[in-house]
Amino acid sequence: MTILDTYRHRTPLSRRHFAAATRSIPGGVTRSLNAWPPYPTYIDAGEGKYLRDLDGNRYRDFLGNYTALPLGNTNEAVRTAVTNQLRTGSVYSFSGNLETHLATAIVGRVPGMEKIRFTGSGTEAVMFALRLARAATGRPKIAKAEGGYHGTVDDVMVSNRPPADLAGPGDRPHSVPEMRGIPDSRVRDTVIVPFNDAEATEAVLRLHHTELAAVIVEPMLGVGGMIPATDGYLQRLRTVCDDLDILLIFDEVITLRLAVGGAQSLYGVTPDLTTMGKVIGGGLPIGAYGGRADLMALLEPGRGTDVYDARSGGPVLYQGGTFTGNALSLAAGLAALTQLDAAALTTLNDHGDRLRDTLNSRLRAARHPACVTGRGSLFNVHIGPTAVDTFRDTRSVDASGQHRFFLGMLNRGFVLAARGMGCISTEHETHDVDDFVDAAFDAITDLAPRRADIISDSHAASTDSSPQPLEATR
Ligand SMILES: Cc1ncc(COP(=O)(O)O)c(C=O)c1O
Repeated sequence: MTILDTYRHRTPLSRRHFAAATRSIPGGVTRSLNAWPPYPTYIDAGEGKYLRDLDGNRYRDFLGNYTALPLGNTNEAVRTAVTNQLRTGSVYSFSGNLETHLATAIVGRVPGMEKIRFTGSGTEAVMFALRLARAATGRPKIAKAEGGYHGTVDDVMVSNRPPADLAGPGDRPHSVPEMRGIPDSRVRDTVIVPFNDAEATEAVLRLHHTELAAVIVEPMLGVGGMIPATDGYLQRLRTVCDDLDILLIFDEVITLRLAVGGAQSLYGVTPDLTTMGKVIGGGLPIGAYGGRADLMALLEPGRGTDVYDARSGGPVLYQGGTFTGNALSLAAGLAALTQLDAAALTTLNDHGDRLRDTLNSRLRAARHPACVTGRGSLFNVHIGPTAVDTFRDTRSVDASGQHRFFLGMLNRGFVLAARGMGCISTEHETHDVDDFVDAAFDAITDLAPRRADIISDSHAASTDSSPQPLEATR
């Protein structure tokens, strides 16, 4: 049975649900990532390290809502905090005290975070941070890394995955809109730097510096393939930004979980502003941005009572959001961060190191064209390249192989992202990591003889073979 046949055989209810979902939802999903051929797996429930799909197949979850759930799916303390909070309301018209508690906790952990504001998502955090940078400097442009992902605001939906024929030279990348609908004006105002090439990055920044408000960069490209900044790259950015008076923004929406103080504490580089999200909401929607107190002071209302009206005391940066600072996300976030102390994060990171070390050495020994990148508890399995140090190295990813690997892992009872991204949760024990490595190695080994097994929806499901032996919970 082919990988695709096995997938279809195991998931008839997901297939049926897909047909129903597409009648009211484009692609059958509200998050584009969740649509893949031949049809998505739909999830029925999560518990601890497991996810269960509509067909009752159980998976070990190595994705945790794209790295947002380092405590697994149904953490007891988070559940209790949210349930207790629900008794007295979910969101109020005025600020409550939880906002201050979570703010104090984060300011106490993250070196660059002198003052903080919460938002509804990581995307909003980036949007507000960029506006703040423009307001503070009076300059119109921002710079970001090729391959960097910062949510879905137009300004940063540029050169996330630019096609090779449009991307320009490696040391002077072009600004390429990620999709239709991104206005040319946004694209022109977004300058692209080559991640991990310090010389070329400095040259690009020097070329545009009179117009640049900020550089926004992930300390490790996350969605771009879990590619850590090489030694000295972030330090060099700090020096150049200081020299040119450009604000340095670290987007730690993914990397915050690498250490109590985020990746900035590991690299020893303090940005002017930091954006975050995911883990600080304990599994509920959230984002936050903050940093230098003098910059964040631009958010303080002026003399007047109406902060909408700049004439009342401006210049005032207005921040809105009906569900921003909702009590449920704050309660969940506090319960999560309390558990994510140095000891817990070290264990997570050790498990990530074990996964990378063992899988990479087995892949090398077998001469399989694949590798695992990442740092600490965050990783990405790439099918095709044997090393990935820059975003352009991901061009040698075998897209069909990567997708069949993803389906092969689902068939073996493991969830990771279609593009190979994964992470460790505190629910995983050493044997889970070892089982993942075995499954990944098998799934990759399986790819070679099956080159003809092209993913196509026209591929008929075989019904005369047995499904993979997966434990079902119902
Ligand atoms: C580095 C980074 N920044 C920003 C975002 C956007 O966050 P959200 O999906 O909460 O809007 C993401 C989401 O994956 C991210 O990885």
